[in-house]
Amino acid sequence: MKEQLSKIKSEALAAFGQVSTPAALDELRVKYLGKKGELTAVLKQMGRLSPEERPAMGQLANDVRAALEESIERAAQKLAAAALEARLKAEALDVTIPGKAPKQGHRHPMYIALDEIKDIFVGMGFTVLDGPEIELASYNFDKLNAEEGHPSRDWSDTFYFDRDSRVMLRSQTSPMQVRAMETMPLPIRIIAPGRVYRKDEVDATHSPMFHQVEGMVIDKNVTMADLKGTLNLLAEELFGKGTVTRFRPHHFPFTEPSCEMDVQCHKCGGAGCPTCKGEGWIELLGAGMIHPSVLRMSGIDPEQWSGWAFGMGLERTAMRRFKIADLRLIFENDVRFLEQF
Ligand code: DAH
Repeated sequence: MKEQLSKIKSEALAAFGQVSTPAALDELRVKYLGKKGELTAVLKQMGRLSPEERPAMGQLANDVRAALEESIERAAQKLAAAALEARLKAEALDVTIPGKAPKQGHRHPMYIALDEIKDIFVGMGFTVLDGPEIELASYNFDKLNAEEGHPSRDWSDTFYFDRDSRVMLRSQTSPMQVRAMETMPLPIRIIAPGRVYRKDEVDATHSPMFHQVEGMVIDKNVTMADLKGTLNLLAEELFGKGTVTRFRPHHFPFTEPSCEMDVQCHKCGGAGCPTCKGEGWIELLGAGMIHPSVLRMSGIDPEQWSGWAFGMGLERTAMRRFKIADLRLIFENDVRFLEQF
């Protein structure tokens, strides 16, 4: 029995030392220590020994079992360490591989144009104002000299909130002139960009919602020459040195005299093409000297102060600035379009 035990011990220890997978180790454990294992089989023969032999043999058998268990434990630890090592190797990150850059958003072309406009005017000492899109008709019309009966107040031109036409989506940014005159100390130099709303059908040059930038100067001895000089400078800063403009007489209820400023078409240089509808010019803004009645209604004495104002279409300006042919592109937010700016 003694030989049997030492044979089992040496065989088992050798086998445990060579094992290469946890499953194989488990098989070996069963082979030697399991219920039907080799060591167990030897131990079962203990009963046949004489009482004198039994303690020594029992001790030896226990030592063999302890040695086997210890060896299995060591082998298991070795396998686990090797497995961990292998996993770390397999899952290692290659930190030198270039990362996936997150897609970066960028400014919308119209807001690029707006930021440029703001920079130009802030550089000339103007303040940028923000105002309500839901406006009182008194600010949108009455205080701008467009009283009851003026065609632009028509229900088919304007989005009203109530039956008696007091509250509306502003149809122009001009009410910001009145809000500035009523609240700011003189002299005033402001621009006020924002959304405006009209009952227009969508096409290549129209949308029921679009953007305007209002501008206004009130000071002593302000003349039409200041208006033209400032707006010509705006055109050159926005569209490049040598940009050609022209001022045409026009009518607005809140200015006298009134005019519109056109810029020579960027597509054809004035010869006439589809972009400028054959005219050679693109209308950019309305402007004029602030009507004395408008000044008076806002509590400013037209004998002492004078002013000029303008309102420009922002989509149009961005289209001219970036040579965009169709207004709808500005609102569709197709990434393939937006990514070009
Ligand atoms: N509010 C006018 C429009 O929407 C544009 C305009 C014209 C604004 C003349 C002005 C101005 O401030 O003086 O058509």
